[in-house]
Amino acid sequence: MSDKNEPRGMKRGLTNYGDAGFSAYLRRSFASSMGYSRSMLEKPVVGICQSASGFNNCHRTIPELVDAVKRGVLAAGGLPIDFPTISLGEAYLTPTSLKFRNLMSMDVEEMVRAQPMDVVVLVGGCDKTVPAQLMGAASADIPSIQLVTGPMSTSNYRGERLGACTDCRRYWARYRAGEVSEQQITEVEGRLASTAGTCAVMGTASTMASIAEALGMMPAGAAAVPATDADRLRIAEESGRLAVEMIGTDRTPSKIISAKAIENATRVLLAIGGSTNAIVHLAAIAGRLGHPLDLKRLNELSDTTPVLVDLKPTGAHYMIDLAAAGGIPAVMREMRHLLHLDCTTIEGRTLGERLDEWDPWVDRAVVRPFVDPISPTGGLVSLFGSLAPGGAILKRSAADPTLFEKEARCVVFESLEDLAARVDDPALDIARDDIMVLKNAGPRSESGMPEAGYLPIPKKLAAAGLKDMVRMSDARMSGTAYGTIVLHISPDAASGGPLALVENGDRVRLSVRNRSLDLLVDDATLAKRRAAFEIEAAKVVKPTRGHAWLYDTFVTQAEDGCDFSFLKKDGVGAK
Ligand code: FES
Repeated sequence: MSDKNEPRGMKRGLTNYGDAGFSAYLRRSFASSMGYSRSMLEKPVVGICQSASGFNNCHRTIPELVDAVKRGVLAAGGLPIDFPTISLGEAYLTPTSLKFRNLMSMDVEEMVRAQPMDVVVLVGGCDKTVPAQLMGAASADIPSIQLVTGPMSTSNYRGERLGACTDCRRYWARYRAGEVSEQQITEVEGRLASTAGTCAVMGTASTMASIAEALGMMPAGAAAVPATDADRLRIAEESGRLAVEMIGTDRTPSKIISAKAIENATRVLLAIGGSTNAIVHLAAIAGRLGHPLDLKRLNELSDTTPVLVDLKPTGAHYMIDLAAAGGIPAVMREMRHLLHLDCTTIEGRTLGERLDEWDPWVDRAVVRPFVDPISPTGGLVSLFGSLAPGGAILKRSAADPTLFEKEARCVVFESLEDLAARVDDPALDIARDDIMVLKNAGPRSESGMPEAGYLPIPKKLAAAGLKDMVRMSDARMSGTAYGTIVLHISPDAASGGPLALVENGDRVRLSVRNRSLDLLVDDATLAKRRAAFEIEAAKVVKPTRGHAWLYDTFVTQAEDGCDFSFLKKDGVGAK
């Protein structure tokens, strides 16, 4: 329980003028210029950390949500004050939004800590904003609630149901293969994202919303409710009311996001066939609180957690269907014997109590029973071996099992630019049984680990009908993508990991059965290649100022969440 005598509301964290009385007087005076009465300024303050931006379509409804949160706060006797932070809209940031997630988390952490609030409601939704808000809140460690904008609803195109962004990729692949005309792809472009909200499938945003709920950081059932549903506003209002109730309690992120809660969230991630990006974000959130996310433990959890949710990109349905089917509580109830039910949540109830109180109705077309799952094992596996000493990730639920045991020749692309220049070259020496390898797209690369791991099937193979082949890189992949794709190879090529030494024609062995990924090149050859690599690496011009320097100096590898090393709980400093 927090200190009952600590100052509340506007009396918290006074600006330092060397005279506390003057500081409080000046703050009230300035605040009263916004029209607050003296009695309102005496109330406890609920900060509403909002990330609306004209560069973020997924956050379009945030002003309306903030109004609803304020309604809940005022009804419960608090003073709601919203404040902005930077926003990260997936499609608008170059080279990739991940490069700015840690920056946003610092903005959240420092503004929550520096401004006078007793509790904070975090309002985000798009892929990187929810992780950034949870990371920042975990470090600031005052009572916090996550509110998400909610998923988009679906639309239709010529009788077919469409939703961002699995269908974006499916149609683009068909366009590349010549099956869809220029006019059709333009028409589809206008139908993919036709409402407010986050991507309509179990992509990264939906996965992170589900994880926030599984951690206990948002009200039960709040993850899946669509952005356009009136229930979304009622959840916002309830978040405001709940925030007031949390003031002065010890329902802080460090109490709620425990090691057990992280394990629960990992199980949910596996059961929903969630995004590979969530592994990176969960590792970063956990790292803020001193809990390592062990990739070997991920495999143990994956082997004992079935996939229960039939959603795109791996299944048939959309988030709006999951909401109607019972939402994340229905999924967690199905696997409750695997969960730590004594974990506490923002309401002060245990997870077990939450699940007991949830409506038992469930749509079995979307949420399968534990005894009849979509797959008996979890959606993600980590791989280790001479090509990935720090680990790599494969989303097996989105992959072709006939490609799981494979030794083949590599066709190597040195960078994203090299890939773009050559992948569709009719003269490219590549066959359907080869393995495509992309280098220099990891966290230490200039590109900042973009979602480029979904390497396009070379046009000549796509045109011949090939839908999938083994592809590997140190990049990430969008949560809405699918294919036999090995990601997050660590250490990454730009750091001098073994991936940096792979050359065209080398042989690589992937074994999902053995959880292994090996480069079949002898040590003497690799030593020669390493010497040449070191000479070239020394010539690379590194950033010397600003955020680019900070990022380049302190970013960690994927298994450490790509967080800045100094932001982890113990602030370990530069590697
Ligand atoms: Fe924002 Fe997909 S682009 S959630």
